Amino acid sequence: MKRKKINLLLNLTSPEDKVLIRGWVRRKRDSKDFLFMEINDGSCLANIQVIANNNLDNYSEIQKVTTGSALAIKGKLIESPGKGQKWEVQAENIETISTAPENYPLQKKRHSDEFLRTIAHLRPRTNKYGAAFRIRAELIYAIHKFYHEQGFKCLSTPIITGSDCEGAGEMFRVTSLDPQDIAKQGKMDFGADFFGAEANLTVSGQLPAEMFAMALGDVYSFGPTFRAENSNTSRHVAEFWMLEPEMAFCDLSQNMDHGEELIKTLTRHIMEKCEEDLSLFTRFVDKSLASMLNTLVNSKFARITYNEAIDILLKSNKKFEFKLEYGIDLQSEHERFLAEEYFKKPVFLTDYPKDIKPFYMRMNDDGKTVAAVDLLVPRIGEIIGGSQREERLDFLEKRMKEMNLPKDMYWWYLDSRKFGSVPHAGFGMGFERLLMLITGISNIRDVVPFPRTPGSIDF
Ligand code: 4AD
Ligand code: MG
Repeated sequence: MKRKKINLLLNLTSPEDKVLIRGWVRRKRDSKDFLFMEINDGSCLANIQVIANNNLDNYSEIQKVTTGSALAIKGKLIESPGKGQKWEVQAENIETISTAPENYPLQKKRHSDEFLRTIAHLRPRTNKYGAAFRIRAELIYAIHKFYHEQGFKCLSTPIITGSDCEGAGEMFRVTSLDPQDIAKQGKMDFGADFFGAEANLTVSGQLPAEMFAMALGDVYSFGPTFRAENSNTSRHVAEFWMLEPEMAFCDLSQNMDHGEELIKTLTRHIMEKCEEDLSLFTRFVDKSLASMLNTLVNSKFARITYNEAIDILLKSNKKFEFKLEYGIDLQSEHERFLAEEYFKKPVFLTDYPKDIKPFYMRMNDDGKTVAAVDLLVPRIGEIIGGSQREERLDFLEKRMKEMNLPKDMYWWYLDSRKFGSVPHAGFGMGFERLLMLITGISNIRDVVPFPRTPGSIDF
């Protein structure tokens, strides 16, 4: 007999004579002649109620079943007389697959997020994390669906790389050399290393994606990204997933149109397909989530320049921890003020000073700002960072010289500006930050299966 998943069972429209379910016991309640069990198999948030009568052969064994134990249950799917559920299973045969001992850590109905982080290997078995990771999976599907429908080609950009896209020096080194040998020699001999050159984990797939946009037109890369930045915040992890569309024949304004459509489509998809899981977050995690999501899909995102943003911040009379002046890199408190308090919706900031942005961004006519764009959203701050790219070889070479970037290391990048260069643009969206936005989860560690942060790599 084939096992039926609980999400399918709960959606049936008529009773069934014989069903087989397999899952884990979430709760058990004893009555005089029978017992109730709530079984969850991870296919959905809801449990199915199982009734075991004392006429079962192994009833005494079933009475000892503990929370967290795994069971296989055969029986009838019948209409439930109880409140809050349509169906229940009247058990005819129950097999214990394995019994969880009494020290199974998830006994209580609610545990703190901090505690659950210490047992990241077990937390997906709770309602909240089960829901979060089902939504995460659906969101990955929605991304590929969106791009497939738009005719973008998915590109697997390298994870081990020889270049630093962002130039921020926040890279994890990749080497096959023995650290003790390096220590003995007193220096790193890159020539003797695996690739014969310095190698790192990627901070962005953008540069390779640009090469492919010049060939396939519209591409996107979606994969793991690594940053060795020592920021212990609720929005940073050392390993995260970044979605990076790169579009040929695209300018900054079309780049923003694309980002806005992307976020709206993905949010709508989750609102439609994950209604039950999402309802957990609107009820228990963030009471303002439903209205936030409506704003997200229905409002027109604001668009202002960096200078306009600084004007607004200076005029706000708000006390910020970090000093504000033209030219500074905005801090999260500034970004959140703009999105959360001032616009009360997502806002694109464009045309940042060139000195706080990477080499590849297109120089504006003023010679001072570049065609950069960040999307700021309430509760999180920056969720998208991108730009129109510098497609003019002479401008690019000048900028690289100013920034002391070795031309020979980027020869292949410069080639793309020599051979059929076209205006193009793209951005990177932090996948986990989008997940935080959609679920209302306030710490990025809680939307990553096994988060990697400074000083912690338990799992
Ligand atoms: O703004 P960033 O650094 O942009 C780039 O890397 C560009 N090369 C992308 C491109 O144009 N193709 O990063 C993009 C986004 C940020 O807006 C943020 O959402 C996310 O990546 N991000 C992080 N998410 C979690 N943890 C971190 N440490 C992150 N660093 C960036
Ligand atoms: Mg950025």
